Amino acid sequence: MGTLDTGTVRPKVSASSALAASPRSIGGLRSRAAACTACPLYGRATQTVFGEGPARAKLMIVGEQPGDEEDREGHPFVGPAGRYLDKCLDEAGIDRNDVYLTNVVKHFKWVPQPRGKRRIHSKPNAAEILACRGWLEAEIRIVSPDTILCLGATAAQAFQGRRFSVLEHRGKILRSPDGARFLATYHPSAILRMPTSQDRAKAKALFLEDLRRAAT
Ligand code: URA
Repeated sequence: MGTLDTGTVRPKVSASSALAASPRSIGGLRSRAAACTACPLYGRATQTVFGEGPARAKLMIVGEQPGDEEDREGHPFVGPAGRYLDKCLDEAGIDRNDVYLTNVVKHFKWVPQPRGKRRIHSKPNAAEILACRGWLEAEIRIVSPDTILCLGATAAQAFQGRRFSVLEHRGKILRSPDGARFLATYHPSAILRMPTSQDRAKAKALFLEDLRRAAT
């Protein structure tokens, strides 16, 4: 199991840390996070989309942020990326109900489609990720997963620093700063966006391998 020097920097205190410090349960955290205004993203989002799953899950899967459907429904991974993840979890023999699913940022960040009605996903910046970090750290403290599997670069870099490359380290068993077993893999949306069916099939095979590795 490797340790990495990829620029993990944790000098600043997250704006959500104080709010997240006292609750002792995921339900307690979720109620507090529902009123979170630690960064400006709450202003345009419908609601906070908090993590879900067993409070003692062995596997925690961490994505970037809720998407359009998650924002409307209030649950993580229920949109196209979530449906793809569900299909892959199923194929990998993993029950979604055994997994704690969450995101590094708990509000949907979006911009209006030019001349359209759609809300277009926008990548969270470092300040927004830092502001939300207290919630993620509290989820990890309470769930205490054996393994954290990060989907995509935003999630992985929140743990391993901004120089961490998912392409370089995908599927490798590492350690997170809190000591859990750590792996990073593709974000399902990235697989869905790949240009050819061959690319998607190749990435999916690796993604399934990573899911199985994370779960064992
Ligand atoms: N993408 C994510 O990273 N998280 C979700 O909850 C949905 C889509």
